[in-house]
Amino acid sequence: MPTKILIFDTTLRDGEQSPGASLTVSEKLLIAKQLAKLGVDVIEAGFPISSEGDFESVKLIAEQVKGPIICALARTLPEDIDRAWEAVKDAEKPRIHTFVATSQIHITQKLRKTKEEVIKLAVDGVARAKSYCKDVEFSPEDAARTDIDYMCEVVRAAIKAGATTINIPDTVGYAEPEEYGGRIKALLEKVPEAKNIVVSVHCHDDLGNAAANSLAGVRNGATQVECTINGIGERAGNASLEEVAMNLKVRKDFFKDFFTEIKTEEIFNTSRMVSELTGLVVQRNKAIVGQNAFAHEAGIHQHGVLSGKQVYEIMDAASVGWRGDNLVLGKHSGKHAVEAVLKEMGYELDKEKVEIVIGKIKALADKKKEVMKEDIVAIAADVVGELKGEEKSVELVEFTISTGNKIKPNAHVTLLINGEKKSGEAKGVGPVDAISNAITSLIEQPIRLKEYGLKAITGGTDALADVSISVEDNSGNVFKANAVNEDIVMASAMALIKGLNRALNFRVKGGKEI
Ligand code: KIV
Ligand code: ZN
Repeated sequence: MPTKILIFDTTLRDGEQSPGASLTVSEKLLIAKQLAKLGVDVIEAGFPISSEGDFESVKLIAEQVKGPIICALARTLPEDIDRAWEAVKDAEKPRIHTFVATSQIHITQKLRKTKEEVIKLAVDGVARAKSYCKDVEFSPEDAARTDIDYMCEVVRAAIKAGATTINIPDTVGYAEPEEYGGRIKALLEKVPEAKNIVVSVHCHDDLGNAAANSLAGVRNGATQVECTINGIGERAGNASLEEVAMNLKVRKDFFKDFFTEIKTEEIFNTSRMVSELTGLVVQRNKAIVGQNAFAHEAGIHQHGVLSGKQVYEIMDAASVGWRGDNLVLGKHSGKHAVEAVLKEMGYELDKEKVEIVIGKIKALADKKKEVMKEDIVAIAADVVGELKGEEKSVELVEFTISTGNKIKPNAHVTLLINGEKKSGEAKGVGPVDAISNAITSLIEQPIRLKEYGLKAITGGTDALADVSISVEDNSGNVFKANAVNEDIVMASAMALIKGLNRALNFRVKGGKEI
């Protein structure tokens, strides 16, 4: 009988730790619902002690998303574990995942503890989590750089304290496939009791080995893989879910003893949604989900493909949900067509938001010949990330720009700041720079634009502009935002104002990050 490999998705936790990838509560809920549709077994929804927002989103996902286990991360500290339980306790299937670092470098330089003290932290953390929840995962952080005998000692103690899953992270993406696979094999030999629970792999991609290491772990006895959509995550990211799932599926001959329950036809939509909502663009040549992954479908290598599909194609584009169709709406297509696209792409929105999307699509259709599926997704993502009325301390009233090849671009802007109208003017190297300077000149708090990215959703000069920005406050907190509009300057102004509002709300709430 082949063994089921559990897919533990950590897009909303480790993935969200990607620089610049912060998501709002509604964005996280939408992604979690799509992950459930994709068929993942576990959703690691967040790290509740890290911020109010993380707590709130884990709680909401636990209450609303059915099917997968909903997991919350916690250090081994009592307050972390209590907060994690508070967040997941209403899930259909809750899990607490607790971790403590075990490599010598982490123990001495980060924790400043003895090895015995670390074992005690692990045991106490697992036992406390177990007192709340029967499903407890334990990770010796930086396991791949931990002395194997010490790692086994910690794991043995964690299992004795009640852990039902043991995860072996390659926290810094240092391992090589044979070495990492060997570590899993050694663990199962040295700690035979681990055979009665789930052994999990968690690999980072600093050397580009994350998927290969995870698969080596599976071939050596691991039955859970921790991964993220599009491989997003800290630094170079985590193992990519789509790469792991498609290796196991496409190379069934090689991985004949294993299977996953991922509905691979949902991969493309999920990838698209995560990219749109995080603002992290998928590189064109990314395996499985990059724009070029099925380029032969769009013309390249057509000769070879025409002479026989398998000449260049090792998997069917449809098996990952890549349809290659984009055109949907003309001026006269209606509401149902928009609703159908939203449903197909996993944008399960409430009625009010669907109406807003439809209104925006109609307005766009009046200006543009054709509205594409991609436009609808970009607008829906924008609407999901829209701030509530009370969260908008800054609103755009109007702006004008003058630009040309003989003048320095100049922007004049009027904002409503906490109900009071304020106007300002600034120049810039281009119109986007000018409007950005004019807006920030009116904000008293020291918040600066840190990153700016622009993507045209479809081809053509009438394409929607999708602007992603991040702003930074003087304590180093970074807030991202994006906005779409057919006018680049307008999209830029809207994204910047959204980012400023996020930064200002964080100050008001006295936000806390760890
Ligand atoms: O990479 C890592 O070590 C982690 C742990 C918290 C599991 O993400
Ligand atoms: Zn990690």
